[in-house]
Amino acid sequence: MEAKEIYKGLAGVPVDYTAISKVNAETNSLLYRGYPVQELAERCAFEEVALLLWHGELPTADALAEFTAFERANRALPERVQQLIDDLPVTSHPMDVVRTAVSVLGALDETTEDNSEAANLLKSKRLFAALPAVVAYDQRRRRGEALVEPRDDLDYAQNFLWMAFGEEAAPEVVDAFRVSMVLYAEHSFNASTFTARVIASTTADLYSAVTGAIGALKGALHGGANEAVMHAFEEIGSAENVVPWLDDALENKRKIMGFGHRVYKHGDSRVPTMQAAMERMIAYYGREDMLELYRTLAGEFLERKGIYPNLDYPAGPTYHLMGFDTQTFTPLFVAARVTGWTAHVLEQNASNALIRPLSVYNGPEERHL
Ligand code: COA
Repeated sequence: MEAKEIYKGLAGVPVDYTAISKVNAETNSLLYRGYPVQELAERCAFEEVALLLWHGELPTADALAEFTAFERANRALPERVQQLIDDLPVTSHPMDVVRTAVSVLGALDETTEDNSEAANLLKSKRLFAALPAVVAYDQRRRRGEALVEPRDDLDYAQNFLWMAFGEEAAPEVVDAFRVSMVLYAEHSFNASTFTARVIASTTADLYSAVTGAIGALKGALHGGANEAVMHAFEEIGSAENVVPWLDDALENKRKIMGFGHRVYKHGDSRVPTMQAAMERMIAYYGREDMLELYRTLAGEFLERKGIYPNLDYPAGPTYHLMGFDTQTFTPLFVAARVTGWTAHVLEQNASNALIRPLSVYNGPEERHL
């Protein structure tokens, strides 16, 4: 075998430049187009953050108003997509539903093959507007509930919760949801974004890139971790069971979901902001028992393994408290991350090189029949 160094999992390998976000593990910071994510989460609507990611600058009041009107006009679930969702069994994973819905939206869009920047921006904005209806309707039909039509007097976060639950959410809940969307929006060359860029690099269409990215996000080592956190919480039950549960998990070499990160080794920059939002939800819903479990598990795990929580750890319980089904958590992540994915597709297209790494062969020597 050739003696070549292998960078398993591409760990530590820079593969391209990006101007979209900067993850700095040393200083525990994450910047979207130069702005600290904490400041954006505190001050900006998710719609503004989406425009920032796509265009590189925060929108003027006019540009924001124009996009808001566009987003509100494109929220309804297309009838053919609804029919298709209805044809899927309620036992299918919601990530499979959302992945299929995006694929169908691509097949229905007459501009899919137009890879110009203008056409792709429009597709990105339409996907941004359409995804909440897909995610909300899929959860409702699983519960035997009817579609809730969008309302154009509500902002993105308010309307998402309205379509999911059929009632107006309290301002505190809307705010925590908005914060989660902002924090989940973008994170440099994570696995799903890299997938989207690989697909875009072949000059395939934007919907193909997003469909592939959704597939990558589904895994428990990536987006699926927010669901897995909730399963762990359900298994543990309450704070006093943390120690025996953790003993067993570590003895059996199980990974504790919602902890650890490929880049951040001293804590995830997004956690404090999301944890604060979760704590507001815990106070709002009167679930201090959950906070105790949350703190105990994080404290015990850090003490034993020196590994910190990642964004999925506070996001999972937050979505649970809001009333989302556990399997819907990763589709919520999709609705947020579609902004980052599509911004990266635009960036990849603007300076493209086919992404095609090498492998080192370690199979049998040449042989003959
Ligand atoms: N639970 C238990 N052990 C963990 C762990 C976790 N969540 N995360 C890392 N470790 C351990 C590994 O077992 C490994 O130990 P070892 O050296 O004794 O084998 C060491 O820490 C390094 O972890 P590794 O998985 O090789 O690092 P990575 O950079 O490839 O992993 C993740 C990053 C995210 C894949 C990993 O931390 C993980 O699987 N976390 C759980 C899933 C999750 O929350 N994903 C969401 C990420 S935002």
